Amino acid sequence: MVTSRPLLLFLSLGLSSVPALAGRGKPDGFNPSASNYDDYCFYAIYSAMSSYTFQLPGTASTTTSAASGASTGSSGSSGHTGHHKRQELGKRRQGNSASTNPCTLSIEVMSLYASAKTYCNARQFKAAIPYWQSLCSANGFTLMDLTEIAANATQTYIDALPVLDPNTNSTSTPIEQSVILDKDYYDVLYHTDFAHDYAFQIDALFSWGFLGFWGGIMALGMLHKVVSVAISHVNDRRLLASRHDAEGAGVTVAPAAPAGPLAKSWHWIRTWFIIPAGFAPLSEHHQRRVYWHTIPRRIDLLIVGAFWIVAIILSFVRYDTFTGNLSYSTVAYQNWQQSADRTGILSYACLPFLWLFGGRNNIFLWATNFSFRSFNIFHRHLAWIATLEAIVHSINYTVLYTVYSSSYVSDYAQNYFYMGVVATITMSLMAVLSHSWLREKFYESFLITHIVLAIVTIYGLIRHTNFQNTTWQNYLYPVVAIWAFDRLLRIVRVIYCNLHVKYSKGFVHNETVVRYFADADLLRIEMTPGVRAPFKPGPGQYYFLYQPMALLGWENHPFTLGAYTTKDMPTSPSGALSSPPASAAGTYESSLVFYVRPYDGWTQRLRKQCQKAADGVIHPKLLIEGPYGEKSDLHLFDTVLLFVGGTGIASAVPYILDHMQRDLAGKTRTTNIQLIWSSRQKAMFDHIATTELRNALQRSDVNATFYTTGRPATVAGQDLNEKTSPAAPAYDTASSIQSVGYVTANGRPDVKGIVAAAVEQAKLSSTRVAVLVCGPAQMADDSRAAVFTAMRGGFHGIEYFEETFGW
Ligand SMILES: Cc1cc2nc3c(=O)[nH]c(=O)nc-3n(C[C@H](O)[C@H](O)[C@H](O)COP(=O)(O)OP(=O)(O)OC[C@H]3O[C@@H](n4cnc5c(N)ncnc54)[C@H](O)[C@@H]3O)c2cc1C
Ligand SMILES: *[C@@H]1O[C@H](CO)[C@@H](O)[C@H](O)[C@H]1NC(C)=O
Ligand SMILES: *[C@@H]1O[C@H](CO)[C@@H](O)[C@H](O)[C@H]1NC(C)=O
Ligand SMILES: *[C@@H]1O[C@H](CO)[C@@H](O)[C@H](O)[C@H]1NC(C)=O
Ligand SMILES: *[C@@H]1O[C@H](CO)[C@@H](O)[C@H](O)[C@H]1NC(C)=O
Repeated sequence: MVTSRPLLLFLSLGLSSVPALAGRGKPDGFNPSASNYDDYCFYAIYSAMSSYTFQLPGTASTTTSAASGASTGSSGSSGHTGHHKRQELGKRRQGNSASTNPCTLSIEVMSLYASAKTYCNARQFKAAIPYWQSLCSANGFTLMDLTEIAANATQTYIDALPVLDPNTNSTSTPIEQSVILDKDYYDVLYHTDFAHDYAFQIDALFSWGFLGFWGGIMALGMLHKVVSVAISHVNDRRLLASRHDAEGAGVTVAPAAPAGPLAKSWHWIRTWFIIPAGFAPLSEHHQRRVYWHTIPRRIDLLIVGAFWIVAIILSFVRYDTFTGNLSYSTVAYQNWQQSADRTGILSYACLPFLWLFGGRNNIFLWATNFSFRSFNIFHRHLAWIATLEAIVHSINYTVLYTVYSSSYVSDYAQNYFYMGVVATITMSLMAVLSHSWLREKFYESFLITHIVLAIVTIYGLIRHTNFQNTTWQNYLYPVVAIWAFDRLLRIVRVIYCNLHVKYSKGFVHNETVVRYFADADLLRIEMTPGVRAPFKPGPGQYYFLYQPMALLGWENHPFTLGAYTTKDMPTSPSGALSSPPASAAGTYESSLVFYVRPYDGWTQRLRKQCQKAADGVIHPKLLIEGPYGEKSDLHLFDTVLLFVGGTGIASAVPYILDHMQRDLAGKTRTTNIQLIWSSRQKAMFDHIATTELRNALQRSDVNATFYTTGRPATVAGQDLNEKTSPAAPAYDTASSIQSVGYVTANGRPDVKGIVAAAVEQAKLSSTRVAVLVCGPAQMADDSRAAVFTAMRGGFHGIEYFEETFGW
């Protein structure tokens, strides 16, 4: 191949046994010429000198002419006169070992020593002798004692030595006295070797830059988590205590907004970096897509933006190219070569975090406050960068092989080569096939294709760099480990949640009841573990549901825990479920409820099964995997605004149930919960208001307003991403239904107005407000914008929580 180094056969013994001088084999010499950068000085001198035959005056050489005849054979690639010459000359040396020996022949040893002493710096010179010794001993020789040589090599002596310039001095003339290598030739040769090999050092360093970038972000995320857990621990006590003081004294004295300089700067950071949508206040888009693209919230936007900048800079800087390079004829050639390796390595460096951020069981989901949604955004941008680097890498190698070498076709047949091509193609395909339109329309097909292509990519890459040394595999094995860990933990969770071998009863959830409410177009899934549930259900959780006995049984879909009862939760008077399933009454300990809006895939099939059943109720065998998700500390806020749309109610109900439990135990500060729920079907309100929310709605500290957007239940599409007309009416004909205790209204809630009113109220009473939203994109973006506005207005006591039914 183009870059193969001359084989420095200074002895007839096979020199390939000396790794340091084995030359750069295919593919493109990832093997450095020397293992230590200090060795490069001596290496350059050594490789230049070894083209010549040294012999003491009067010692006849009989093999020179014979050897030169064999030298013209191997010329394939063009444009490397420098190293071609050296290669031929190297061959000439075969058979000459008797007369020339850089270990024992004093004139040759002196030449090497004098050149090294002149051109190597102190460190390099110190490294030179042991390196030289190792070269000799690897070939069965012992380097002669250098004491006398060193004593003789005075500056005056060296200055008087004849200069050997491989550009002018013929190698066919044996050298009969000590010489010194030409300075210019040494510089170019040293630079040639060093530039090539040091480029890998830079590449490796920059790939650490990529890993370090994300490592740093994760470290900051973990720091944030530790601090926020500590603060919320303190707040927990302080805020809960102040609530009781206030009650006792009959006045509100809650220090809702501590205003030290630290709190002020934290408020500033939250206001301008953490809460707002990417381009707020110019654009409030976050949940709503802009031309099919997600606009991350600002902090995520800054993180991925910074990564793009880092990626671009590290892809373009520090290329050591120069005219006169002996291996690569032109500067352009060197640029193609070095950026080919750089982009390939940087693409690899994206992979570990790319995989980590795509997984369900990502340790940083637990260790930081980043949401799955944020990680998903990181995942996508890492994927883009990895793919672009891979494409550039492929283009570069195509140029190198076609323009600068003639071996494209023969090399193409090799594994490492076409496996790289395969990986570039699969990566590009994945990027294209992950378009949000396809993801939303054909989620299952997207997922299967994505996984298959990912497997092919990793397999291809492992084969692509499976040569000589395994340095580059070190980026791939973590990927395999991360993936295996995620998959293993999924299985563990499924087993843990569903199988209690101990009780030898098989699946725990045999009491699964799925009911379809046609008027509300709602599926209600209730699971009652026959025995003690191994996990504690609570707010903020979501689970993946499987129907293993069905067609496409591997399919699993995330659903937010919509309501639950636990053993220690009294079902009356403040309990959740109005009617626990009678069949399980004996063993009844806890149950999980999911509200599911049927779409076109599994949820659709489930609906059909219900519709076929006589009473609209089926008992399928379902498995759950979880819990995932995190609870938000809503109980530390006096006023809680819950904005939900459709089945988004699933994320609100558990917080209301949790509030009721906490209130009994005096463990909440919340005195006012406002549930603002909009849905297309009024029947949906009625179902949930008379079951899971029945008790809650009778409480004075829970106020609910239900908005019917009044569209027919048959409207297709996903209500969470529906396009909405901005001019929809707000409060319309409100009618109070005394029996259940909620207000219904037509039209859409005026989200911004409601938040602003609550903030005004909170300012007056110096209390704290939490806003939680789980609803249509417009609703979520409006809530975020309203909170941002309040925070910009200097209000400290507000926090924003967003749950989404998609990523
Ligand atoms: C964390 C989370 C919690 C959720 N909680 C609820 C809930 O409580 N109630 C509810 O009705 N819906 C919830 N969803 C949405 C629910 O997962 C999808 O509606 C469901 O997966 C659709 O299944 P399907 O086969 O009928 O999908 P399809 O008809 O094929 O697709 C409908 C939509 O759902 C998306 N989708 C499909 N499968 C998945 C999946 N496995 N992961 C993510 N998105 C998917 C598709 O991209 C598409 O936009 C939640 C989603 C997430 C991510
Ligand atoms: C060192 O110099 C002396 C005197 O010029 C000479 O005799 C001797 O051979 C030299 N030694 C070597 C190893 O070149
Ligand atoms: C190399 O060539 C130059 C010029 O042709 C000559 O002066 C010099 O002595 C030669 N060096 C050796 C070591 O033969
Ligand atoms: C659940 O399992 C019990 C015991 O195995 C059985 O008696 C009961 O009928 C099952 N219920 C359903 C709905 O399958
Ligand atoms: C709750 O609703 C009732 C009836 O609509 C209203 O009078 C009351 O002011 C509301 N309370 C709060 C705290 O909003």
